[in-house]
Parts: sequence; C-alpha cells; structure tokens
Amino acid sequence: MRIYLLIVGAVFLGRLGVAQPLNALLPKPAEIRWGGGRLVLQAPLVAAFEPGASPLVRAAVQRTLARLAPQPTNSPTRQPTTSPTRQPANSPGLQIRYGHEGRPEAFDEERYSLRVTPVGVLIDAPTSLGVLRALATLEQLPAAEKAGKKQRFLPEADIRDAPRFAWRGLLLDPVRHFLPVAVIKRNLDGMAAAKLNVLHWHLSDDQGFRVESRLFPLLHTASGGGYYTAADVREVLAYAAARGIRVLPEFDVPSHTTAWMVAYPRLATPDTTYRPYLGWRTTNVGLDPTRETTYTFLDSLLTEMSGLFPDPYFHAGGDEFNGKQWLRSPPVADFMRARAMFKADGKTLDPHQLHTYFNRRVLAILQRQGKTMVGWDEILGPDLPAPVVIQSWRGKKGLTEAARQGHPALLSHGYYLDLNHSAAAAYAADPLPPDAALDAAQRARIRGGEAAMWGEFADSVVLESRVWPRAAAVAERLWSARETTQDVPDMYRRLSVFSAQLEGLGLRHRAAPAALLVALATPPPPDTLGYAPPAFPRKTRKLPTPVFLLPLNDLAAVIEPVKGYKRHFQGMTYTSQTPLTRLVDAAPAEAETARRYGATVDSLLAGFAAPARPPGLARQLRRLRQQLARWQALDAQLQPLFAASESVREYAPLAAGLAAVATVALEHLAQLETGTPPPPPWLAAARVTLDAAQKPAGQAELAVVRATRRLAGLL
Ligand code: ACM
Repeated sequence: MRIYLLIVGAVFLGRLGVAQPLNALLPKPAEIRWGGGRLVLQAPLVAAFEPGASPLVRAAVQRTLARLAPQPTNSPTRQPTTSPTRQPANSPGLQIRYGHEGRPEAFDEERYSLRVTPVGVLIDAPTSLGVLRALATLEQLPAAEKAGKKQRFLPEADIRDAPRFAWRGLLLDPVRHFLPVAVIKRNLDGMAAAKLNVLHWHLSDDQGFRVESRLFPLLHTASGGGYYTAADVREVLAYAAARGIRVLPEFDVPSHTTAWMVAYPRLATPDTTYRPYLGWRTTNVGLDPTRETTYTFLDSLLTEMSGLFPDPYFHAGGDEFNGKQWLRSPPVADFMRARAMFKADGKTLDPHQLHTYFNRRVLAILQRQGKTMVGWDEILGPDLPAPVVIQSWRGKKGLTEAARQGHPALLSHGYYLDLNHSAAAAYAADPLPPDAALDAAQRARIRGGEAAMWGEFADSVVLESRVWPRAAAVAERLWSARETTQDVPDMYRRLSVFSAQLEGLGLRHRAAPAALLVALATPPPPDTLGYAPPAFPRKTRKLPTPVFLLPLNDLAAVIEPVKGYKRHFQGMTYTSQTPLTRLVDAAPAEAETARRYGATVDSLLAGFAAPARPPGLARQLRRLRQQLARWQALDAQLQPLFAASESVREYAPLAAGLAAVATVALEHLAQLETGTPPPPPWLAAARVTLDAAQKPAGQAELAVVRATRRLAGLL
C-alpha cells in the first residue's frame, strides 16, 4: 500500500506571459510535451517520499534540491521574496514514486516519467534508477526569464523517457597518468548528468597496476606512479552506486602487462628482468600462457580483485598483442606445436590460437567468481565461448561479427575522446544503424557503447577538458532515439548549455585549461630564474594579467591538438614524465570558436548564393570582419610573449598562420561583396597560404583553415 503525501501550497502560479523553456535537455528525452505554465523557483521545493524510499533515493533528491534551490541574491531589498529559508508551507512539492530499488549491474529499468506543473513536480518510475535519471533531467529544466536573471522557473512539462541502450559507458585510464579519487568523482558527477551508467576503470597497463593488491603488493608498488587503496576503491564504488553507475574494472591481459613483469618477472616469457615502463608505445610483451604458475597467479589475483569489484562483469583486456614474443620463446613454440596451433597452411604457428587458449583459461577463472568476461575485439575468434562480451574499438566490424557469433557487443570505435575528434563525429557513430546486416537476435546483442579516454595526454589536470563536454554527445547517441542525432547544430547548442551545467557541478573542464593559460601567459619573475630572462619589453610586462592573457586566450581558442594518434609522431617523444602544461594541453579538443566560425562561413556563403541578400547578412559580415581583424592583430600582440617564453614561442607559427588565414578570408569577403570572382593568381596564392597555415606546431593545429578553404572555394 502506498501513501502519497501531496503538498499543495500557496504556489507561484507563473502564468505571466508565455513560458519559454530553455529546451536544452541533453540527452534528449524520448517524449516531451511542454505546457504553457511554469513553476517559479522562488521557494525551495519540498520533497515528498513514499515511506519505503531508500536512503540512496533520498540523498539523490537532496542533491537535486540543493542544485535547484533559489539563487542567493546580493540585493538585500529582494531578500524577503527570494530567501531560500522561506517557510516550507509555501513551497511546491517534489513528489517521488518508484516501484523497487534498481540495480545498475542487473540492467534494471531506467525508464521514468517527470511531470512539472505550476503546483509541483511528480517523478514516477518503476525503479530507483529511473528516479535518478529523472532527477538528472529535472536539473536541466530551470530556465530564466532573461539571460543572467536570477529568478528561475521550471517550465510546465510532461516528459516520458527511457534509454535506447542499456550500456552507456565512459572509460577512464588512471594508468598512464594517475587520477586521484576526487577526479574520478567529478567525472562520475558528469556521467550522472549525462545519464551514462558504466564507469569502465582501466586499472592496469604497461606503466602500472593501480589497485592495491594485498596478495601481490609488488604489482602496485614496483612501477611507481600511484594506486588506489581498497578504501579508495570502495569510496568510488559507493559514489558511483549512489548515482546509478556501475563500475567495470579492467585488468588487461595477456599484453599491456609490463608492470606485472617488473613486479614478478616469472610471469613473462622469457623471464628476464623488466624496468618500469614510462613510454607510450605498445610494448607487445605478454604473460607466459604455457606455464601453470601463470594461471595460479591469475586465479589468486583475479579472485582478490573480484572481491573488491562487485560488478558481475570483469574486463580482461586482450588488445594489441602481436604474439611475436610468444613465438620467439622455444618452450612456448613447443607448447603450440604439441597442440597443433597452426595457421591454415598447417605449418605456421598461430599466436591467435594460443591467445584464445589463454582467454578460455581466464574465462574459467572469472566464471568461478561468477563474472561475465569482457574483452577488446582482438579476442574474438571461432573458439571464444559465447557469453564473453566484445568491445569493438578497431572498427565496427568487431561489433557486428561479435553479435553474429553470439556475443553481447559494445561499440567504442568512434567514441575515443583522446583522439580529439569532434563531438559531431562521435555523435555520428551509431552502434545499431538501420542498415546493420543483423537479424533480430543479433541486434538484441548490441548492448550499447562506451566513450573512451585513454590517458597518454591527459593527466589529472587536463583530463576533464578532454572528456567534457564531448562525452555527453556520446551519451546522447546511446540514450536518445536514433533520429535525435540528425540535428547536429541543435546538439552543439545543447552541449554548450550542458558544459555550463557541468561547471556548476564543479567539473574543471573549463577552469583547468584557463589556469594553464594564465601560467603560460605570465612570465616567471626574474629572481626565480637564476639567469637573466630573455628581452621582454618592460611596458608589456607591467600590464595586468587579464590584458596579457587576452591574445593567448584568443589563439588557444582556435587551435586544437592534432587528431588521431598523430601526437605521438611529430618529433616529440612523450613519457609519463613529460609535463602536460604546454599550449597544446590548454587548447580545446574541439575549438568552439573555430566551429562557430565555420558555421558563420557556411551561413554567409548561403546568404551570398541566395537570389536576394538575407536581412542579417550585413551584420554577420561586420561581425566576422571584426573577428578576422582581431585574428590578424594577434600575431603582433603575442610577440612579447613569444620573446619571453620559449614554451609559448613554439606556437608562434600558428599565430602567424592565423593572421595569414584571416587576411585570405578578409580579401575573399571583399570579393564576395563586390561580386568580383577571385583572380586565378589570388586563388593560387591563397591555396599556398592555407596549406602552410594547416601545418601543426607543437603538436597543435589551427582549427579555422578548413572553413576558410570552404569560404574561398578552395576545398
Ligand atoms: C585499445 O585502445 N588498445 C583498446
């Protein structure tokens, strides 16, 4: 029997004109109907629970209420009407109903309905997970009458929502750079806001083993670099569970295990000694799959780790191993010959068969712990038992192949945030497009996907700016209806609102790069240098920091780190010791200023192509010219900083390139305006300029060149 406490108070019936919902929900719910009314957030909402509501749900509701609470005002005269301490009797209600406690690890339902009326809010869901997702939506509803106004309201709405895919993950890699618990928690807050529900925690790799092992303590100590204690792990698990997020641990075997061999050399073949590995390239070392002691070790270790991580899934990696180390070892080769592990020619030894043998042994260990094994797409093969979940990262082929061979499957190809591709690119990758050549049973095996943030170029400072807000585009791809992703400009509109929401939650995706830029733009005081600083005009050095910072901010706003894996191959060898404090680290993965420039260019081109010039065109042109003029001027403004700072000077070619690009764009705008076709020599020169401006410097590149090519018709 349910008893609902209904709170009907003197409410703020805000039918004052037409309510304008901000309509920036992300991920977009399955169904929304907006009403004409509003619930003014003038007094705190008061929660009403059913008697059996769990502490987890009550705590989540309290978090949401704190975030929705009326904003404190600075104006004492307004205090009486906006004070958060106004009597509860006057407060509208937030009523919560749900059927039972949901367990994310059981894929319990996340469906919910959320109704906002002028008299209160009602959340109704079959499970507590649905309540958590509804609260995430509710936190995105507040709108203000006018931008910047403190008085906020919830628009009247009727929302019904459910996820498209049950598995929506984010991989974090604390191995390449250790990520303190506080950083993990901030990302969990971001995940909860985006309705992501699996933290894939990549806990061991060549560079380290990042969980304390009571049985094999050299694992977490021998390579250095930090680790989570059992108490840390429990703290993260509890924080995640409170937000309806599962934690999937990954201990990658048989390769990516140099740290294991540094600790316990007999796990390798040959069992020589290994030094801690500080580099980033794949090592292609592998555990010895032929010795029983390897499995005894794995059995003990994985049993210990299974005890620490209650999730029924356990990721055993299996990626990026060419098997050559196995083939070079005579005892391993003998082992393979004895079991006829040959390729189709019947002669050549096939390391993939040995990998499958190894996987089956690992699978047996995990099954004894009641775990379902997950592995990267390399482990797929005809002899791999069907319950193993395949995570496809090298392409989409692994995903469809896995589903055909009976495996549950996850997509990560296209969602690698560390490769610095755009949110639109991630958004475009559909785990299950309509034309997927899969039957109904195979389709049902596509469980969802995971955004992945590998840590080579992301320490605990820059990590959030690499993950957010782009991970939210993946989150929407996985939560919302397939058709949602057809409107890319609307995704970007909502993503920028979401990014501000994350900042309010305490994420450092904007603050951290801003702080890096301040450090880069501020020349070190001479007395700490121990030598005379390079010539730096006195006048400029005396400028207050903000003015100092503007040109560098403007440059950083239009550059991006090079894409894909290119950063490894541009003349600089990175290791875990390389500081990530250069301009490339402060540059956004996807430069919003550059993206908007591209959108303006496209809109202008459409305007000029139209039979009559659209009314806004002149204004748009004026603004664009102002921006281009600023870009032209940056180069000169940055010269003092380039002279003073060697690390910033590395990026001088990008400032020069930006000025040159701006000049091309300004010249072409004049041609467009006067209807003068660009003369062929001008086009040839512009092409040379743009090609030169596209060259990276310091592993970063200008993000405005492509749009300028479009503008000049040089694509
Ligand atoms: C991977 O990116 N090696 C799974």
